[in-house]
Amino acid sequence: MENMKLLKDVELYRDVRIGNIVYRGSEDSPGGEVGYIFDLFPVGYFEGKTVLDLGSAGGAICFEAARRGCAMTVGLELQKERIAGARRIQRLAGMTRVRFIRRDLYEFLERGAGRFDVIFALNLLHHLSNPLPLLQKICRSSKEYICLEGPWDLTVAPFREYCPRLAAMERGTTFATVGDYLRYFALMHFSVVGQAPSAAVKEFYLSDRSPRRVSLLRYARRLKDRDTRLWGMRLFQGYRDGCDRYVRADPYFLACHDVQELLASLKSRFNSGRWNFILVGPRASGKSVIYENLPALHKPTYHSKIFKFSNWLGMKGLRRHLHPTSQCHSKFAEVLLSTMDDGTAHVSQEEFLQVIKGRPVVCVVCYCGFEEHFERLYAREVRDFSTEYHDVYFDLSLRFDYLRWVEAFRQQGIPYVIAELAPMH
Ligand SMILES: C[S@@+](CC[C@H](N)C(=O)[O-])C[C@H]1O[C@@H](n2cnc3c(N)ncnc32)[C@H](O)[C@@H]1O
Repeated sequence: MENMKLLKDVELYRDVRIGNIVYRGSEDSPGGEVGYIFDLFPVGYFEGKTVLDLGSAGGAICFEAARRGCAMTVGLELQKERIAGARRIQRLAGMTRVRFIRRDLYEFLERGAGRFDVIFALNLLHHLSNPLPLLQKICRSSKEYICLEGPWDLTVAPFREYCPRLAAMERGTTFATVGDYLRYFALMHFSVVGQAPSAAVKEFYLSDRSPRRVSLLRYARRLKDRDTRLWGMRLFQGYRDGCDRYVRADPYFLACHDVQELLASLKSRFNSGRWNFILVGPRASGKSVIYENLPALHKPTYHSKIFKFSNWLGMKGLRRHLHPTSQCHSKFAEVLLSTMDDGTAHVSQEEFLQVIKGRPVVCVVCYCGFEEHFERLYAREVRDFSTEYHDVYFDLSLRFDYLRWVEAFRQQGIPYVIAELAPMH
């Protein structure tokens, strides 16, 4: 029987399993087994080996390698919340022979990291703006295996002329030799960097010289450049603008610039005691900024709590956040209400209505203009990861739709106010 342990304020990317405990971060979606990766290796292979995991996130690979008897496992990760998650688990589980280092992987490998029997670079290369130097360093630093995971549906269309062999691989040639793998990397490089390789790059990829064994895992995902993402987001812009017009036409709609003022004015409107106060908005619309900059509101007259929406918390999390304990009574609610398409990922309308218990709802909506929203998201990606993510689905942000709840409030006769903060220009 497995026990689930949810860790607050950390991100793991994949679930981490140690013994019968499964660790998951507060913003993580369920899943991400690692068994299929270790199955690529001979039985008992990891006993006494040294392992380096590049972009180790919450450490799932490192912990599993340690469990399989590695002499030393090093996880390298840049993102604060993820490395914090890995270290927290290490403490909780009392795992030795695992080390997590927060450093940029180029810098780490540049400075002579030493050599490892196995180097993992899972779901990493396609996030880097120039994966080739990294791949070269990985080859130099690995003694026995390199294990890579990445998207498979990259296209070589622009390079067809340059290299018919690559184009042939695109049609699904089975990978048999190291040379095949290296050509696959070339494919990846072309797609990520977006240009035909120089002579040196060509030589590296298309040679069959690597003495290392390579395990390669692929998954289906299409890379998106900035313009493609912008184009994708525009598809949803109309939908969001439609929502906005609809909300503004609502008789309970208030435009406001300052949350404190709003709270003061609402006291006369809802004098029944407790309200549900909810701060909503798509990603990067400024919820956290508002939340963080508000002074703590002691003994509020309204029903106040923080609800930083987490998919996996579902009903239980929602209930807890809408009915906070004494320690968290002075927080605002922050709810990301819904995506249009995925009813399971976010809390359902029924669940929501159940927990608000018919008390008045003050729904403060954070909005910003479309262009600005896109730029904020894009800048956040680049800032947080030091690399340009090519495959983030920005469109989800625009499927943000709180009107489903407003409809339900109306139907159920629940008093509500929609207040829009930072109105769209
Ligand atoms: C998509 S996640 C994959 C995580 C993990 N390898 C797995 O497959 O479970 C990529 C990870 O690489 C990390 N990363 C990206 N660029 C990095 C860099 N330059 N140095 C260190 N880590 C980096 C990111 O922070 C992120 O956690």
